[in-house]
Amino acid sequence: MRQSKKRIRVGVVGVGRGRSFMRATSATGMELVAICDTWEERLISEGKSLGVETYTDYNRFLEHDMDAVVLANYFHEHAPFAIQALQADKHVMSETAACHTLGEGVALARAVEKSGKTYMFAENYPYMVFNQEMKRLYQKGLIGEFKYGEGEYVHPDPPEVKLGRSCGVDHWRNWIPATYYCTHSIAPVMYITDTRPVKVNGFAVPFDFDDPTMTQTVKRSDTCSVIICRMNNGAVMKSLHGSLRGHGNYVRIHGNQGLMENCRHGDKQRLRVWREPWEKRKGEPVETVYKPDFPLHHDRATRAGHGGGDFFTSYHFAQAVQTGEPPYLDVYRGIDMSIAGIQAWRSAVNDSAPMEVPDFRKESVRKKYAKDDWSPDPKRKKKGQPFSSILGELKPSREAKALAKKVWAERGYFGK
Ligand SMILES: NC(=O)c1ccc[n+]([C@@H]2O[C@H](COP(=O)([O-])OP(=O)(O)OC[C@H]3O[C@@H](n4cnc5c(N)ncnc54)[C@H](O)[C@@H]3O)[C@@H](O)[C@H]2O)c1
Repeated sequence: MRQSKKRIRVGVVGVGRGRSFMRATSATGMELVAICDTWEERLISEGKSLGVETYTDYNRFLEHDMDAVVLANYFHEHAPFAIQALQADKHVMSETAACHTLGEGVALARAVEKSGKTYMFAENYPYMVFNQEMKRLYQKGLIGEFKYGEGEYVHPDPPEVKLGRSCGVDHWRNWIPATYYCTHSIAPVMYITDTRPVKVNGFAVPFDFDDPTMTQTVKRSDTCSVIICRMNNGAVMKSLHGSLRGHGNYVRIHGNQGLMENCRHGDKQRLRVWREPWEKRKGEPVETVYKPDFPLHHDRATRAGHGGGDFFTSYHFAQAVQTGEPPYLDVYRGIDMSIAGIQAWRSAVNDSAPMEVPDFRKESVRKKYAKDDWSPDPKRKKKGQPFSSILGELKPSREAKALAKKVWAERGYFGK
């Protein structure tokens, strides 16, 4: 067990989402020493304002004298970056998703085991205040055993906003299938109930040709997806995510002795707990609605992004590095929730037939998937690989491409 209170010197890859990690390091016992991005202009300006070393080349960045690396590069490129960092003797915290193919999941699990370094999956949604409170209550046994759950991540935006955060026709946000961005909705349920999905059925709500937030972008995947997961305790959960109207994150957990969920109106950080009148203890109300505190570091967490989640991912990563104890969101849970989205796409394109979510904790299971490179990535696509939409190949309109060029130029992007 490592037990060092030394400051952890950390480097961050990606100056988009990565900026929130760059700014959160000191609050959690880490020191930012270097940043890396191929988008030089943004990198230099960020490096100046933070006063740290900058690198456009990832190999050079890894040579910097530091203990840990945070990966906030492209969604579908985390596993190879993580493996390279582990091989360079760095601890790794990786943004969503952990891997883009099942084969990459196998390679990542093996690399973490071989390295002996800390790997943490930076899924921040479980650490929102209502999710942490639900975990506490669940572990106390308040609602009995988990039977059914829901996790929802609904995030619509106007076309210009969508285009602004996905510069380039082949930017991952423009082709990633609707089931893939599922960790924000699945992770909280796994975290609260300590379960993992073993089988999934995936459903996509097809690309909506009457929705300008779809047609005025260069996106060629579907409106949203639902994944039905069979969990390893027999429970069922529904994950909903995508760009439907009705922005919000909601989590609902039914146990065999009660229900808990965050509120859908008013202050959504509030929790609603329900116990049936014949089962509750005497004097206790049937329904309780309240706003919980964070279990620790309430003040710091309330100032952090994503409802406090951004503080806790960095906090738990620092703790794990210092103690040598694996974090709760270890490589296996990261892979579980990431490959649920891949397998759900396999299901969606096969009339929603059930697909297994293999458990990569076991080498005997991993062997079967080591060469699985099934992916709709335009760069790696080959015969037999899937399209990004259940409708097949979609092509953005000329008007959408013209709007995209305009928005991208305003952001300083002049590529294809
Ligand atoms: N957990 C959350 O709440 C949350 C929120 C936003 C984004 N994310 C995740 O963060 C990641 C980044 O998303 P984003 O919103 O910043 O958009 P993005 O994917 O466009 O940004 C990635 C950044 O990495 C850089 N990059 C790409 N390849 C690189 C390479 N080879 N070397 C160095 N830099 C490279 C890009 O230039 C870009 O600045 C994604 O995985 C996304 O899923 C998570």
